[in-house]
This record gives sequence, structure tokens and C-alpha cells, in this order.
Amino acid sequence: MAPRVYVARRFHFSAAHRVYNPAWSDEKNAEVFGPCSHPSGHGHNYELEVVVAGSPNPDTGYVIDITLLRKAIEAQVISQLDHRNLNTDVPFLKGCIPSSENLIVALWKEIAALLPPGVELVRLRLWETPRNCFEYYGEYI
Ligand code: NI
Repeated sequence: MAPRVYVARRFHFSAAHRVYNPAWSDEKNAEVFGPCSHPSGHGHNYELEVVVAGSPNPDTGYVIDITLLRKAIEAQVISQLDHRNLNTDVPFLKGCIPSSENLIVALWKEIAALLPPGVELVRLRLWETPRNCFEYYGEYI
């Protein structure tokens, strides 16, 4: 039996979005989403926590080299989001309403694809504000 250890890393990005359903009228968007749907959009300072799990490699003592994990996620994912407009600028968000719920599900696919064999993505936490936090465990219902 090998021990299973969880490793977490936190990332930051700033981005703009407008919560808006293009199938609805401006009036219905305003009614449902309120100020989140203002036509010019608004920004958030997002915090993203990535938790992976695996067993420490006997040669290194690491589950994963956290510097390599950081660099891969920054280069492949955070760079696509930071100082961008989530409605228009991010290929992996095309066609979805850029709520934090949809963003965190899309982030799961992007980040899981970067992990080496034997390292599993177990949780994402996305803070849209210091008080609003979203979690995703890769589950479907
Ligand atoms: Ni917002």
C-alpha cells in the first residue's frame, strides 16, 4: 500500500465577464442576472486552488514537482484567462455563459489534461470574490 497525499497550489487571475444568456432579451437578462449582466461587463480578481493527489515518488519524495505543475498551469491555462474577457477571448469557454460554475467545469478539463500519469485532479476551488467560492470535483449527475 502506498500513501495517498494531496498537494494544493493557488493561482490568481483577473478577468472581465458579463453574465448573459444570448437567447434572452436584454430585459430578461437584466431581470435574472441584475448588475452581473450590465452590457459593458465587470471584473473579478479570481483565486483558483488546484488540488491533486498521488503517491510520493521514492526517488524524489514528490507526488508532483509543484514548480512544474505551477508552470504548466500558468502557461497553458492562466495565461488564457488573465486580463481577458471571458465572454470573447478564451477558446475553451466558447459558447458557454461565463459564470463561475461553467468556468470551473471548463477549468477541470484543461487542468486534468496537463497532469502526468499517476497524479489525479481531485478538487478545484474558484473564488470569484473573497466571499463567493465555487468547488468542483469532476463529478456528473
Ligand atoms: Ni461577475
